[in-house]
Amino acid sequence: MSPARTLRGRLLCPHADEARVVLVADGLLEIDAQGTIAAVGPAPTDCELPESFPGAVLLPGFVDAHVHFPQTRVLGSASGPLLPWLTRSVFPEEARFAEARYAAAVAWEFCEQLVRHGTTSAAIYSSSHPIAAELLFTELERRGLRALVGLTLMDRGAPPELLLAAGPALDACTALVERWHGRDGGRLQFCVTPRFALSCTPELLRGAAALAERHALPVQTHLAENHDEISATASAFPGSGDYLAVYDDHGLCGPRSLFAHCIHLSEGAWDRMAARGAAVAHCPDSNFFLGSGCMDLHAPTRRGVRVGLGTDVGAGRSFSLRQVMAAAHDAALIVAASAGGGSRSRVSSEALLWHATRGGARALGLDRPGMRVGCLAPGYEADVVALDLPEAITDAAALCDAIAFRRDAGPARAVLVRGRTLR
Ligand code: GUN
Ligand code: FE
Repeated sequence: MSPARTLRGRLLCPHADEARVVLVADGLLEIDAQGTIAAVGPAPTDCELPESFPGAVLLPGFVDAHVHFPQTRVLGSASGPLLPWLTRSVFPEEARFAEARYAAAVAWEFCEQLVRHGTTSAAIYSSSHPIAAELLFTELERRGLRALVGLTLMDRGAPPELLLAAGPALDACTALVERWHGRDGGRLQFCVTPRFALSCTPELLRGAAALAERHALPVQTHLAENHDEISATASAFPGSGDYLAVYDDHGLCGPRSLFAHCIHLSEGAWDRMAARGAAVAHCPDSNFFLGSGCMDLHAPTRRGVRVGLGTDVGAGRSFSLRQVMAAAHDAALIVAASAGGGSRSRVSSEALLWHATRGGARALGLDRPGMRVGCLAPGYEADVVALDLPEAITDAAALCDAIAFRRDAGPARAVLVRGRTLR
């Protein structure tokens, strides 16, 4: 339990449902002993409490909707596109996570990077080694971060040292579920994580879906990222109508599913995604770096499909959701230019900040009774980041621009999860 405390400062408060934020120029944020926000409002004129982090702005902690823990040390390896990059840069590094000492050292570095960049919640892929997932959970628990973590399932399409057959892999998942799922009032969750269709046999996909169903677990995977990947998937699953249908046909497309990338989807696939209530992790910086393409952010948002932003480290070049917001802005301009401009031409930094916080929390399913994440409002978990931003900026839109587009920003000034200080 954390001590009850009150923070004073500029507050940027995302709306619970709409992609917009509200600024309280001089606000008080009251946090109770359970780490829940008890009250939010303007400070009275005679308030004696000093500003908690002078010069900083308080907002909900960032939510990284898609990140790979065992790629921490290969971030920035320019050996793309996707399939050659996996072979050259990713698989050799992920193989090192069979060794507990290596995995534990990187788990520390990984959590350090999350906290440093103001990320308080993340949907994380571990490697295919149960020991590495165990050590990552241990470090997340110790650091106080909120996370969904998956053992990355692969029983084909990768070097033998990374493969784990369906039986032992699903047994390992069950053991991790029993040990970690729901730990600390739901702060840690197990997420069923078939890497992508190409790395899984139909048997493993079906087994993963059954496991998710049995324990009501979240599911995460990659979808429609790259043209060669899409062709290879069509060849491997000739009985499915398209890439999304591969997951749907194996029971992996539903309201607890989170699909990363979703760049090359038909209108029909987007409609099915909406009908299923699945969510999207938009990873524009990774998409630029691997040359995968640009997702049309408008395709999910106009259908009411939930969208979070993902760094996708190590294809993404930074742990910073601020950098991802900037990349999402640029990707939207490119999509608009190729569509002839018009009303789609720009996505506001305000909407992007919403997706990086509240939108991500919704995409990860972190808004159920007993755990509401992503807003500065009564009843929400006090997951808060303080960012240093010029005091001369006094309106919400300009603050959001500064958060998204100042590439030289330093680390977060302070980071809290459930009112507990992590940094
Ligand atoms: N598709 C399958 N695995 C991966 C991965 O590790 N990163 C990205 N960006 N795409 C993938
Ligand atoms: Fe990824």
